[in-house]
Amino acid sequence: MPNSIKVTQTGGVVLVELNRPKALNALNQEIMEEIVETLVPLDRDPSVGCFVLTGNEKAFAAGADIKEMGSKTYMDVFTNDLFADWDKFGAMRTPKIAAVAGYALGGGCELAMMCDMIFAAESAQFGQPEIKLGVMPGMGGSQRLTKLVGKSKAMDMILTGRMMDAAEAERSGLAARVIANDELMAETMKAAETIASFGKPSVMMARETVERALESSLREGLMFERRVFQSMFATEDQKEGMAAFAEKRKAEFKGK
Ligand code: CAA
Repeated sequence: MPNSIKVTQTGGVVLVELNRPKALNALNQEIMEEIVETLVPLDRDPSVGCFVLTGNEKAFAAGADIKEMGSKTYMDVFTNDLFADWDKFGAMRTPKIAAVAGYALGGGCELAMMCDMIFAAESAQFGQPEIKLGVMPGMGGSQRLTKLVGKSKAMDMILTGRMMDAAEAERSGLAARVIANDELMAETMKAAETIASFGKPSVMMARETVERALESSLREGLMFERRVFQSMFATEDQKEGMAAFAEKRKAEFKGK
């Protein structure tokens, strides 16, 4: 049983709550291992249509665990490839929504950005304050934040270490939605249920195609999209979805 996360499945939605409240959900080795070991098998489970990753009202996560990291040497972090296992979380193919209230700092902000979209409570505070610790982002922040908000604002965040509130995060493209604090979880779960109600293969293909936009030229991305779109005509869900529209009824997707 995991110790630093709580995992509950309701229908097709898996809710993952980071659970180190005394350390503001600082991301230590244990929490990383538990997330990867618990969620990667669920990623392959056809009954799981969406993940929601969240913290608590005070913190989504206040960063990598500074106390655990502080005394490590270069050889420790190089030989153990510090943070590399987070790539396994980032590479999961089932959609993941980060529901962020309170602090999402350093690795916490980077973990939220590894998700496919960020829903921010009005209380959310995003930041990459590593510069204040004599380091810099190390879980993807320099790359993902720049892709999401552009060079100028990424430089501002990373070089000054300042925080960004929910309104600024939405305005600049980091957050998909800003939600009233007490409605964050209900609205996020509703969106996750909607995603999980669709055929999983088409959702996975659509997700993968959007991801491709961040990594390829427009021409390559458009070709990738066209080929994936065309491949969907091999699925039963495409036949069902289009037939249901023509017959004016709700589609019954089978994930096939
Ligand atoms: N690592 C380890 N412990 C942390 C932590 C972190 N990132 N963030 C908070 N904590 C601990 C605090 O040490 C404190 O523990 P104790 O009660 O044992 O003293 C507890 O959580 C509560 O924190 P505070 O008392 O500091 O709470 P606050 O409300 O006064 O301040 C805060 C909140 C502004 C978020 C402050 O805790 C803070 O600045 N945290 C560090 C943020 C940070 O620098 N994050 C980047 C980490 S490095 C990184 O993430 C590298 C990377 O790119 C992957």
